[in-house]
Amino acid sequence: MTSLWRSLGVAAGLVVLAAGLAYGWPWSTDMVKQPSVRPQEDPRLPPPGSVPRQGKEPAMDRVQAGERLRNPVEPGPVSTENGKHLFQIYCALCHGPDAKGGGPVASKFVPPPDLTLDLFRQRPDGFLYGTIRDGGALMPGQGDALSPRERWDIVNYLRTLQQKSSQDRVRQESSAPRKK
Ligand code: HEC
Repeated sequence: MTSLWRSLGVAAGLVVLAAGLAYGWPWSTDMVKQPSVRPQEDPRLPPPGSVPRQGKEPAMDRVQAGERLRNPVEPGPVSTENGKHLFQIYCALCHGPDAKGGGPVASKFVPPPDLTLDLFRQRPDGFLYGTIRDGGALMPGQGDALSPRERWDIVNYLRTLQQKSSQDRVRQESSAPRKK
């Protein structure tokens, strides 16, 4: 009698084990644990020896960029229009739509300077490009969000804002009543 119970017990155990295996035991290796990339997770590293298809920018700070880089993008309407569009998205929040400061974030962060002042007009294009890419002393870099072409478009647009502001200044000065 006891041996019958024992064999029944063994048989029941086997049934449970078989059912468990059929449902993918051990359950710890289910589809939740998989090598796919999860939200907010860093992308997988490229395999060793990979080469970026669009080349890599040589490391240089913005002072060096100002000395070495030449603006390769013609400052025509196509470039400045795109630069304007991007400036409104990426820069105006701090620098204001005319680059004179006072964007909505300026009061919460550090108020940025008026970029139409002579000091910034005299900066070389490469320096402005380097500032957009890597940021300034306090300004955060925007290099991750903007391609090199887009950064040059913004530089070209910034130049049009600076030019317009200095023309306005000259006009104001010449129309102001002369002192006797
Ligand atoms: C989060 C706010 C913020 C954003 C966004 C921002 N800036 Fe700035 N920017 C600043 C502040 C603050 C300064 C002054 C302090 C510094 O130089 O870091 C500054 C300085 C600058 C300067 C002067 C650098 C110099 O010393 O000659 C330039 C040029 C400039 N920004 C351009 C841009 C452009 C173009 C964009 C958009 C691609 C942009 N900034 C986006 C806050 C910002």
